[in-house]
Amino acid sequence: MPDMDGKIVLVTGAARRIGRGIALRLAREGARVAVHYHHSAREAAETAVECGGHAFQANLENVAEIERLFHEVASHYGRLDGLVNNAARFTQIDPLQVTEADWDFIHSVNLKAAFFCCQQAALVMKRTGGGGIVNISSLGGLRPWADHVHYCASKAGLIMMTQALAKALAQDITVNSVAPGVIPFGETDEPRIRKLVEVTPAGRPGTADEIADAVLYFLTAGNFVTGQVIAVDGGLGLR
Ligand SMILES: NC(=O)c1ccc[n+]([C@@H]2O[C@H](COP(=O)([O-])OP(=O)(O)OC[C@H]3O[C@@H](n4cnc5c(N)ncnc54)[C@H](OP(=O)(O)O)[C@@H]3O)[C@@H](O)[C@H]2O)c1
Repeated sequence: MPDMDGKIVLVTGAARRIGRGIALRLAREGARVAVHYHHSAREAAETAVECGGHAFQANLENVAEIERLFHEVASHYGRLDGLVNNAARFTQIDPLQVTEADWDFIHSVNLKAAFFCCQQAALVMKRTGGGGIVNISSLGGLRPWADHVHYCASKAGLIMMTQALAKALAQDITVNSVAPGVIPFGETDEPRIRKLVEVTPAGRPGTADEIADAVLYFLTAGNFVTGQVIAVDGGLGLR
């Protein structure tokens, strides 16, 4: 099984929360981590220092910014071995109230940006010897949540995109997905979170490190594991 030593991995949305956990974990495993952020400059700088890496800013809604980001990362490191598409948006809206702007707000990052990040990563990886992509989806891409129809659609799209790209890029590049369940950061008292934790068979919420474990597995598994989705959800999807 290949290890992460010296591997160059870009983690999007890595300043805070799950992305930060993934970045720190990959760095502990020996990877050189490119820490992407949008607004969280201070937190990104802290994460980059803790990772011994560099921070890169981009608004992923815009394909030209995605192209610039990958150009900067490839120029800085000379190669790219891994991409973790973690950046995303989340909103809760009654589907009968969702506007075009609400729909685009979610899909422009969760699906469109994720696709163009995969495309740009694959173009660099093909030049530099292959690599691995992990898309952070959601249990909401596997199970229907009535108040998050637009979000569920974006994450289900991300899962199908993962599988189709895995086929398109096989041999050189693996494409897999981790689907988190409930991973709170201080919002454990919110009624929505409390209710979900109560019905999680594991009896507790998950942690960023548990998501990072699954990411690490995919990035080190070799090219015989591709197009796969692993739910890291304490059994919540089994309800
Ligand atoms: N937390 C959970 O319970 C949970 C459950 C299921 C799935 N997930 C998935 O796991 C991943 C991480 O979750 P999280 O809760 O840690 O995420 P989050 O805090 O909601 O978002 C992660 C980061 O995405 C970045 N981002 C958002 N819009 C962007 C844009 N236009 N351009 C560039 N970056 C943008 C933000 O960066 P800046 O802060 O720098 O602006 C943000 O810090 C997401 O894909 C999420 O859908 C999480």
